Amino acid sequence: MRGSEWILHEPSSGEAHPARGPHVRLYQPMPLDRPMPRDYTPADSLLIQLDHALRTVFGRPHVTERQDPADGLPEAELSDAERDHVARLMRINHSGEVCAQALYQGQALTARLPGVRDSMARAAAEENDHLDWCERRVHELGGRLSLLNPLFYAGSFVIGAVAGLAGDKWSLGFVAETERQVERHLDEHLAEVPAADARTHAVLEQMKVDEIGHATKAVEAGAAALPAPIRDAMRLTAKVMTTTVYRV
Ligand SMILES: [Fe+2]
Ligand SMILES: [Fe+2]
Repeated sequence: MRGSEWILHEPSSGEAHPARGPHVRLYQPMPLDRPMPRDYTPADSLLIQLDHALRTVFGRPHVTERQDPADGLPEAELSDAERDHVARLMRINHSGEVCAQALYQGQALTARLPGVRDSMARAAAEENDHLDWCERRVHELGGRLSLLNPLFYAGSFVIGAVAGLAGDKWSLGFVAETERQVERHLDEHLAEVPAADARTHAVLEQMKVDEIGHATKAVEAGAAALPAPIRDAMRLTAKVMTTTVYRV
């Protein structure tokens, strides 16, 4: 494997090593929103995808430079029932972000225009922040993550790949619609989480801002409007998923 996003280097950014002379160069890691080189062999791609899946579901995702929006905010005094309820809501959001990661990865695998992959790379990286923030909040509230996440990742990866195969305008349309539905869902959670819980509110508010940005980006990149039956099917799937994850 030649590399993946956290060890790729940009040769032009190399600086001479201060002690070892100009023949030893120091490189900055490639930022997550930079386009990935595309000369991977199929085996490389498979390993990168596997690494990504395992990190998303079981490990630590590669986050961006951004801070957790909850940082520095006080923990609210919640009743046991409130804490449990909010932890479950954040578990739902975490699983949603697992799906988002898998969708973006599946889509990137089959997207035809390199520009589409590149334009959505930052959005995919920001979903990792969401994943990280939600996980942290679930644990702070004494909750646990969904046991169904591996299943969600696998299913969403396939859906993303199929959307990518359908053509870039459809796959971008799928992203735009997903982000819009997530935005509405975040609004529901914002209304449900006790107002005193500033930490959870801060995370949800920032996620909402980001999801709106992702939808806009997808539209600007050429997203087509999805037919109503597909939008309805997506809503139904999300409803089943959220109801299940609240419990499991
Ligand atoms: Fe997200
Ligand atoms: Fe998003």
